[in-house]
Amino acid sequence: VRIAVVFGGRSAEHAISCVSAGSVIAALDPDRYEVVRVGITRDGGWVLADAGQPLAITDGALPEVTGGTAVSLVGDPAGRGLAVLEPGAAIGPALTGVDVVFPVLHGAYGEDGTIQGLLEMAGLPYVGSGVFASAASMDKEFTKKLLAAAGLPQGDHVVLRDATGAVCPDPGLLDESARERLGLPVFVKPSRAGSSIGITKVTDWAQFPEAVATAAAVDPKVVVEASVPGREIECGVLAGVDGGLPQASLPAEIRLRPGVDWYDFSAKYLDDSVDFDVPADLTPEQTAAVQAASLRAYQAMDCRGLARVDFFLGTGPDGSDRLVINEVNTMPGFTPISMFPRMWAASGVAYPELVDRLVRSAVD
Ligand code: DAL
Ligand code: MG
Repeated sequence: VRIAVVFGGRSAEHAISCVSAGSVIAALDPDRYEVVRVGITRDGGWVLADAGQPLAITDGALPEVTGGTAVSLVGDPAGRGLAVLEPGAAIGPALTGVDVVFPVLHGAYGEDGTIQGLLEMAGLPYVGSGVFASAASMDKEFTKKLLAAAGLPQGDHVVLRDATGAVCPDPGLLDESARERLGLPVFVKPSRAGSSIGITKVTDWAQFPEAVATAAAVDPKVVVEASVPGREIECGVLAGVDGGLPQASLPAEIRLRPGVDWYDFSAKYLDDSVDFDVPADLTPEQTAAVQAASLRAYQAMDCRGLARVDFFLGTGPDGSDRLVINEVNTMPGFTPISMFPRMWAASGVAYPELVDRLVRSAVD
């Protein structure tokens, strides 16, 4: 099977995508898969990356797609193909004869339905969710709307919009009553981003304007979320193979070490500031509740292939468990420390089998 692994990309999660791709490529059985490494540079150029290019975080330095032979995407020979060219550029080697594409891309122009649309146009099968599920899951506002429609509990939040209804990163749009309702702290987030990039935890309203500007630098749609107290729990969902139903992994927990304020980019990838319990120390009932909610979220968002569903597990006013969904990730991290592959390993699906199942679910 000839598989194009696509990584890098135009989003702020470029480097994390490279690291994820490094792990995915290492897990693809060379006896079964011929890997074509397609890097997308930060400014959107497609290149054939050479196998020697480092796809890992080395001494804190983040990897990046910098160069390589320019390549064009051309779809199947039935005439549905596309070629993507720089103005005036000669056509580069065409990405033809690929059986399946694994878009290991996080964030905008990758996890948000855009490359999925391109691959649909080109008639190429690909791993993961389609256009709609990718776009809706990338956008925290629409994720919340769809999950709420499915009766899945959400944290309170406000999207900054002006009087015309257009998204507008003006801190004045969060009026006094909304501030009182949300309470402090709030998390100010770009609506369409990942890896905590652009997010600020605001503990004093004086910090709010700067937090809005920081989020808006990533995405003009800014979401202000109430803090949801509770344990941070994640769960993986994987498509069934051979007509089987989707399955949920054992959940995992992220525990912040003392003095670590929240699970930001550094805590995720750079510092030794969190402990991961894989699997999480939950009761059988809690595990079952997390798994059931994950499968419902996967369905509610119309996901395909895989997803990682992130939760807060807190305590309700009556002392019972309160499970709130934070978000759904359609292309969760695949880095060596990322939760999705580790949760599946703990659930009996080792990394090579995991990627194999993902590819099979795409071409089945
Ligand atoms: N957005 C990052 C890659 C994640 O969800 O793991
Ligand atoms: Mg995310």
